[in-house]
Amino acid sequence: MSENPFLSGNFGPMEEETTSTDLSVRGEIPEELEGRLLRIGPNPVDPKEGHHWFAGNGFVHGLRLRGGRAEWYRSRFVRDDQVCDAKGWARTPGPRFREDSSGLANTNIIGLGGKTYAIVEGGGFPMELDYELETVQASDFGGGLVTPFSAHPKRDPDTGEIHAAGYFPFMDDLHHVVVSAEGEVTRTEPISVPGKPMVHDCAITENYFIVLDFPVVFHVPPGADSTDVSGGLGQYRWEEDYGSRVGLLPRNGTSDQTIWCEVENCFVFHPLNAYEDQEGRVVLDVIRHPRMFDSNLTGPGEGPPTLDRWTLDPKDGSSREERLSERPQEFPRHDERLVGKPYRYGYCGTAGGAGLFGGMLKHDLHKGEMQHRDDGASKQYQEPVFVPRSEDADEDDGWIMSYRHDSDRNVAEVVILHAQDFLGDPVATIDLGVRVPFGFHGNWVADT
Ligand SMILES: [Fe+2]
Repeated sequence: MSENPFLSGNFGPMEEETTSTDLSVRGEIPEELEGRLLRIGPNPVDPKEGHHWFAGNGFVHGLRLRGGRAEWYRSRFVRDDQVCDAKGWARTPGPRFREDSSGLANTNIIGLGGKTYAIVEGGGFPMELDYELETVQASDFGGGLVTPFSAHPKRDPDTGEIHAAGYFPFMDDLHHVVVSAEGEVTRTEPISVPGKPMVHDCAITENYFIVLDFPVVFHVPPGADSTDVSGGLGQYRWEEDYGSRVGLLPRNGTSDQTIWCEVENCFVFHPLNAYEDQEGRVVLDVIRHPRMFDSNLTGPGEGPPTLDRWTLDPKDGSSREERLSERPQEFPRHDERLVGKPYRYGYCGTAGGAGLFGGMLKHDLHKGEMQHRDDGASKQYQEPVFVPRSEDADEDDGWIMSYRHDSDRNVAEVVILHAQDFLGDPVATIDLGVRVPFGFHGNWVADT
């Protein structure tokens, strides 16, 4: 078991929840920041042989900032059934997608309609958390959610509604799910695909919902019960012949109106952003993995992920592919006031000497330039989150916030940089005093 790299070092799980109100800060926390920097990752309470990084129970982290102060850091288990049983806690109430759904939610944490949700793909409903990250209940958004949800909804900055691609290995279709800014499901539209692909993320533009249909496909092992999902992610495998396609579904359209654009075989967990150019083509920037879950079934790691731009023409389904950056990178983020719109800057984590996590990259996509922040092998950043300095600040005028592992002291710090001084000294560094295991995603959720 100890050979699994996703169970050791800073991938290793935390056994205890933490509440800290006495945090030491170097520098000055910007007064504008009032809210919580939330983050989530897998934290298995009982990992089995062949444990997959994506399958660990959810564990959330939050740093509360207000008035230039770091008021608290909290970490909490997301109380799925396995966690509750292991800890002797009462199981969490609320609806489940299937009777045997465990409630596991480990991949992203968002604010929506004044509530906080831990979310996951592949069949789990969202888990609602309170402001201080205690699990409240499983949620189907008030009864409107009738299909699986996703860990990567995209928020339309004009309406506040979120768009997601839901899937489940024993449903024939994917689903385009839209949830209003108030948290009510307003659209559930099936999307037909030829197999059972893993669909981790999506993108939107002004007119399209963008569907990723790539060759990591669900396989039922020989002799297994075809409805048993206990094998989990290990049942998703690379299938070369499946092919790679991007679907452009008109936002209010139906599956048969989807325009499918073939691209060279690869796998994408995360788009950076997408938009429509003046000719009506869709420009989709992605982190492209050459393949996934082919020889390595316990986590990502099959060739360097690069930043690529795909230009997709809805008129004829053609695609043009170009590489924007060769440097291995993941966890792409941008200024989310520009989701689905032309944009200039992207921020990514970069793989370092110690594996999936290292420094951070800032891309200027207009100039074709990149800055690489590397604080040394002992400082490993998790996903960068951009927060604008004010509502009407220019793109890139704001803060980059990231949980950074300090392997010398075996603790995490939250680092706040000005995005326009990406390589300079942080404006503030908050010492959390405990580890934050390498995980997946998070967001700044402002109080207002
Ligand atoms: Fe993700």
